[in-house]
Amino acid sequence: MAIRPILTAPDPRLKLISKPVARVDDELRRLMDDMLETMYDAPGIGLAAIQIGVPQRVIVMDLAKKDEPPQPAYFVNPEITWRSEEFAAYEEGCLSVPEMYEDVERPARIRARWLDYDGQPVEQECDGLLATCLQHEMDHLEGVLFIDHLSKLKRDIILRKMVKAKKRAG
Ligand code: NI
Repeated sequence: MAIRPILTAPDPRLKLISKPVARVDDELRRLMDDMLETMYDAPGIGLAAIQIGVPQRVIVMDLAKKDEPPQPAYFVNPEITWRSEEFAAYEEGCLSVPEMYEDVERPARIRARWLDYDGQPVEQECDGLLATCLQHEMDHLEGVLFIDHLSKLKRDIILRKMVKAKKRAG
C-alpha cells in the first residue's frame, strides 16, 4: 500500500467525470488499498479515486468512531436508485477543500447499489452519516465538490482562501 498525494481545489482534475470500472481485479484492489491508506493518513472518512488523480468510479470510506475497530468500506460503480423527499443538513468537509466546513442539504435517505471489494453486488438503504458521505463522494465522480452546493458568494470566498493557502505553501 502507498499514500498518494491528494488533489486540492481548484485543481481542474477534480472537475473530471470519472469513468465506470470495467472489472474488479487485483489492480483495482491495489488502488482501493492505496486510497484507504491515503484516507486514514489524511485523516478523513471518505475518499473518491479522482481525489488522488484517478478518474475511475471508486470510493472508499470508514465511518467507524474513534473507539470502534476500523470499518473499511468500498464502493465501485455506485448508483443511487432512490432518494427520500426529506432533506437533512450536515456540516461537510472534504480532503480536497482542507479546513473548510459548511452545512450542505441532501436527501436524508437514499437507496444505492455498488460493487464491493470482491466485485460482489450490494444494494442497501442508507441514512445518517452514510447517506451524506456516500452522496458527497458520489458527487466527486461527477466532478462536483460540496462547495458547489453553496451560494456563489460562499464558494468564491472559500476558493480565494484555497488559492491564497496554496500560494503560501509555494
Ligand atoms: Ni470530498
